[in-house]
Amino acid sequence: MSMLIKNGLIVTSTGRYTADVLIKDGKIKAIGADLDNSAQNIIDAKGKYVLPGAIDPHTHLSMPFMGTSAQDDYATGTIAAACGGVTSVIDFDLQQKGESIFEAVERKKSWAEGKVAVDYSLHPAIMDPRPEVIDEIKDAILEYGTPSFKIFMVYDFRVDDATMIRLLQETKKYGGLVQVHAENVHIIDHLNQEFEKAGTLSPYYHALSRPNIAEEEAVFRAAKMVEMTDSKIYIVHLSSKEGLARVKEAQDKGINVFAETCPQYLLLDDERYKESGFNGAKYVMSPPLRTKESNIALWDGINRGNIQILATDHCPFDFSGKKDMNGTDDYRKIPNGAPGIETLLMLMHSEGVAKGRISLEKMVDVLSTATAKMFGLKDKGEIRVGKDADIVIFDPKQKFTITQKKLHMNVDYTPYEGMEVTGMPVEVYSRGKKVSQWQKDHVEFVGEKGYGKFVKREPLI
Ligand code: URP
Ligand code: ZN
Ligand code: ZN
Repeated sequence: MSMLIKNGLIVTSTGRYTADVLIKDGKIKAIGADLDNSAQNIIDAKGKYVLPGAIDPHTHLSMPFMGTSAQDDYATGTIAAACGGVTSVIDFDLQQKGESIFEAVERKKSWAEGKVAVDYSLHPAIMDPRPEVIDEIKDAILEYGTPSFKIFMVYDFRVDDATMIRLLQETKKYGGLVQVHAENVHIIDHLNQEFEKAGTLSPYYHALSRPNIAEEEAVFRAAKMVEMTDSKIYIVHLSSKEGLARVKEAQDKGINVFAETCPQYLLLDDERYKESGFNGAKYVMSPPLRTKESNIALWDGINRGNIQILATDHCPFDFSGKKDMNGTDDYRKIPNGAPGIETLLMLMHSEGVAKGRISLEKMVDVLSTATAKMFGLKDKGEIRVGKDADIVIFDPKQKFTITQKKLHMNVDYTPYEGMEVTGMPVEVYSRGKKVSQWQKDHVEFVGEKGYGKFVKREPLI
């Protein structure tokens, strides 16, 4: 099977140029001017961008959490990904008590089998750090193809600082990476008690219970562990100006601290918690939305290279039935998380590139190229000969009004309802196979459940 994409503007992390792209057997075979027209399928991409598929390295598909489960499974979540121009996901795999890392990885792979529509990998989350589990880190990096490990500094399943140190040491030996959810649990516990005493438990207090300083302190502490062990760490879903300042401070000292942020921390702010009725619950996520000041600081952090990666933290719960299941009079019982996988690329283009906040090349870097490098996806992340043909044909002029009715995520709301975006993925290819297509006024899934493959990732050196 061969395909030729003609006359598109190819965008890389460092530049852009007009050329044709020849695809054979799922790989990019040639790039050049006026390539031979003998391909079976010829696509005219004049006036369009040819982008590497976005990679979302932060999703929670079917994750059991707070007495329920994140609603998108590997079918609905990756169909939504395909429709949004996301051609690879790296999903969190929460190790259960008593499980080995291997068992956790195989369990989640079995959930994905026959369902997943684009390629995927897994980050094991270490939640039961028994000595034999720490010893298994080596195999996870070198054998299972899962070299990045999430840890939490909050929630009941958090790890303590001593465990963090052990994990930093162990991952350093073999080319692994620790990813950390950085919030100070004691500050949060204290404020939760205060708000309980005062009887102030509406969704707005969720944000007040997790102040910027809770993130700042945890980022600072994690960076100190990295300094002590001369290792490296990746801060997931960085949300605040103060957290970013601690990331930058560490980086300026030569400490290997990397950071990811998400569209919600760039585009939404804590005013959302004041929406009428129980609406604020839609934005109950951790860390919470911050002020506009943090939004601005995070855009700046991307442009200055302090934040390397954009991800979604896709963790959807219906507003009716899940968010309100137990938490209508207590924010602590509202499942934490929000949907976002399908709107990632359109938002970053429209709110980032089209509004002049980031360049097109920076968008490609933080959504694809840097992500593939950070997480060892050696065949992904670039329009380059030899790479997988994971390609988005993107029309920078196509308008779309975001509405949950025209999206594919298995959830009853989007935080971006009614927002008009400029620029949409109009054709999306995963290893050369078309998986989604713009049709009249929205994107339709045209791929196949079960087509996606588990990708064994390389050690991260
Ligand atoms: O609120 C969030 N972020 N839910 C998903 C779990 C996590 O902490 O990433
Ligand atoms: Zn988290
Ligand atoms: Zn998350």
